[in-house]
Amino acid sequence: MRILITAGPTREALDPVRYLSIRSSGRMGYALADAAVAGGHEVVLVSGPVSLPPVAGAEVVSVESARAMYEAVRDRLPGCAIAIFCAAVADYRPRNPADQKIKKIDGIMTLELERTEDILGSARSVFGFRGFLVGFAAETNEGRIHAREKLRRKGCDLLVSNDVSRPGTGFEALENEVCLHYADGREESLPRAVKTILAEEILRRIEALLPRHDDHGTALS
Ligand code: CTP
Repeated sequence: MRILITAGPTREALDPVRYLSIRSSGRMGYALADAAVAGGHEVVLVSGPVSLPPVAGAEVVSVESARAMYEAVRDRLPGCAIAIFCAAVADYRPRNPADQKIKKIDGIMTLELERTEDILGSARSVFGFRGFLVGFAAETNEGRIHAREKLRRKGCDLLVSNDVSRPGTGFEALENEVCLHYADGREESLPRAVKTILAEEILRRIEALLPRHDDHGTALS
């Protein structure tokens, strides 16, 4: 199957030398891409700036900003059976990025920010994606309630939530502890594990929920 995965942070330019970004190593998304390639899938990895080696066997599309990630996803989503949105996309960008380096001033500087494109939220409503849609959620409190609400609002089949306030897991960590929220109301907590193991577990569950196809794309009963 063709699978699109977004990974890593985005960078939103303030001027030619500064940007706003999110603490994200990209490890979870890259681990999912690795697992998907190993499982024989055709993988498109749309990645923000990370310090990880490219995933062998995947088509890697490198982007910087939320807008560039949005456009890359929009252009590559058609034909995908599964889309996994793992990227830590900045929710805001500077409204008027400067062409020249901004000079420092005395006192307080105020930045005006505007919303970025909601890529996951556009998958169904704007891009018309009909495949299996997976979102991620980084929560710090009331995780369960927010996750269920996000799953419904963005039209996901599965939402993977993790509590980023716990030490040693989540953003930039090697390990993670996640809860899977399914569209039918089911919930499943996976034990804490390194992201490569979690990626395999998550992918196995997605595959199990999808109709099986032979090498020619014909559905198998
Ligand atoms: N996401 C996205 N585009 C954005 C923001 C988020 O595609 N501009 C995706 C992420 O990749 C992730 C999911 O949306 O799969 C959840 O991100 P999050 O920022 O937690 O979602 P929000 O609905 O913006 O939640 P909150 O209100 O907590 O910020």
